[in-house]
Amino acid sequence: MESKVKDKESLLRRLMESGGEPVSGQMLADEAGVSRTAVWKWVRELEEDGYTVRSIRKKGYVLEASPDRLSPALIRKYLNDDPFVSEIIHFESVGSTMPIAHREAQNGAPNGTVIVAEEQTEGRGRLARPWSSAAGKGIWMSVILKPDIPPHRAPQFTLITAVAICRAIRETADVEARIKWPNDLLVGGCKVTGILTELQADPDRVQAIIIGTGINVNQEPGDFPEELADIATSLRIESGQTVDRAALAASVLRNIGRYSSLYLEEGFAPIKALWEENSDTIGRKVNAVMMRETVTGTAIGITEEGVLEIRTDDGTVRGIYSADIVPAE
Ligand code: BTN
Repeated sequence: MESKVKDKESLLRRLMESGGEPVSGQMLADEAGVSRTAVWKWVRELEEDGYTVRSIRKKGYVLEASPDRLSPALIRKYLNDDPFVSEIIHFESVGSTMPIAHREAQNGAPNGTVIVAEEQTEGRGRLARPWSSAAGKGIWMSVILKPDIPPHRAPQFTLITAVAICRAIRETADVEARIKWPNDLLVGGCKVTGILTELQADPDRVQAIIIGTGINVNQEPGDFPEELADIATSLRIESGQTVDRAALAASVLRNIGRYSSLYLEEGFAPIKALWEENSDTIGRKVNAVMMRETVTGTAIGITEEGVLEIRTDDGTVRGIYSADIVPAE
């Protein structure tokens, strides 16, 4: 079905759907209930955003080229008719997408609402660490989920998201990322993605889970701040190719939807199996560094609650709820 034109974003979607055929300005104006000048102004705004729109006399507008942007219309084009995403809210530059997502969730935004930004000036990671989010280089995105589950199961959504992003990266960039418990994706031992899961909950029910995903996509080696140069990488560095961020964002969203549904229908077992298959942690000798102690041993698996199990040298199995994992040898 063709999108109904009502603003700049839906005009863009309509031009994309026309597959290179001109769309008449008068028809667009009639459909939107605005003047032809108003349509022309939207076209000008699209050009200011970096799109190339050709105006063919007596025929109409054709979209000739799209910039590398995470515009909702572009992401939707790649999503096809996937039912998971309800709304995509796009920002050029924000402090962080997390508080915006929290506010939207509290104001009633439905499951599958997405907040995405080209740049974050105060991106944050786990334990309030800063998250480098340079303009146009990555996917800085928060997704609102509203599953009907008790709060203690919410951390499982970090694992669901990790599995989803691994698959999206494989499908879109042809790069094999591995999951470092609980929320990092690594390529060649360097971090390519971080996941930040936050919760709005009553004592017995989740109100909303906000999943923040930071994916390093098109940075080149010199683009990372000095302190990250040795520990971070990007898909471009690993694959040697520029990656289409909108296609990757769509794939991430499609897979979050797919694995959330799988989890809600069949429980945690299939996710646990996929997570362990893609894990960089299981089977390794690790140090789990926590605030008050460090546990050393072999990571042997994750529990139903997403807790990492480590067998220490004396054979005791310890459950780790939150820690930084570093290789022990
Ligand atoms: C981590 O590895 O510590 C998690 C990093 C999460 C970064 C993402 S980027 C989108 C969202 N907005 C933020 O400020 N943080 C998350």
